[in-house]
Amino acid sequence: MRAVLVGPPGAGKGTQAQILASELSIPKVSTGDIFRANVSGGTELGKKAKEYMDRGDLVPDEVTNAMVKDRLAQGDAAKGFLLDGFPRNVAQAETLKGMLDELDTGLDVVLELRVDEEEVVKRLSGRRSCPECGRVYHVDYDAPKTEGVCDEDGTRLYQREDDREETVRHRLDVYREQTAPLVEFYEREGLLATISATGPVAEVTARAEAAIAGKR
Ligand code: AP5
Ligand code: ZN
Repeated sequence: MRAVLVGPPGAGKGTQAQILASELSIPKVSTGDIFRANVSGGTELGKKAKEYMDRGDLVPDEVTNAMVKDRLAQGDAAKGFLLDGFPRNVAQAETLKGMLDELDTGLDVVLELRVDEEEVVKRLSGRRSCPECGRVYHVDYDAPKTEGVCDEDGTRLYQREDDREETVRHRLDVYREQTAPLVEFYEREGLLATISATGPVAEVTARAEAAIAGKR
């Protein structure tokens, strides 16, 4: 299974990707997580990405595309993958298509998560993330068993720099202008499945599973 999750910031892409990738036994490839790991590790890639991420802008395509190409060349991605946060504009989608064409393969499904903007602001202001395993929580909607600590590995949770309200509003503008056109692109390719991403996490997962099964 080769799948892509598309949706605005805070739609629950990371949350659902974690669950679905584990159910499907394929790696979750999150460009946001890879960038954040590089920023906290102080790598060259992290230095290139940080200023864009802090503003809520997209990291330039040449940087992002090269990173994804490397990641998809790793052995565990040969049997399939779930992309979270990539592609993010039509140019990245064309690049992905080229990469998969070279391997004589293609995507099976692009799952669009829909949620309204006020819900996004609520979700992101309460988000807490684990720097160790990447799992995301919410202080009200999906709280860890012990406040501020990851259930999986006991690591202290942190709040993302780009989750301040004004940066969230800017990320929503970037989504509308640059990422939303992808939805039409994939609709034309016959790959799009759209679900509502409001309601409890488990209900969204059930909708996602049904939508993926419908495209298999
Ligand atoms: P990225 O990390 O991809 O951020 P994003 O797309 O803005 O998405 P988020 O991670 O904010 O939200 P999500 O949809 O994953 O929601 P989550 O599951 O966490 O990108 C960050 C930055 O990196 C970009 O701005 C850019 O600079 C750069 N970047 C990344 N990819 C790039 C690319 N391809 N090209 C260029 N630049 C790139 O959930 C959010 C919260 O809601 C959590 O607290 C969660 O617990 C809660 N929640 C989830 N589901 C529910 C539910 N059903 N009900 C209630 N609460 C819920
Ligand atoms: Zn963790």
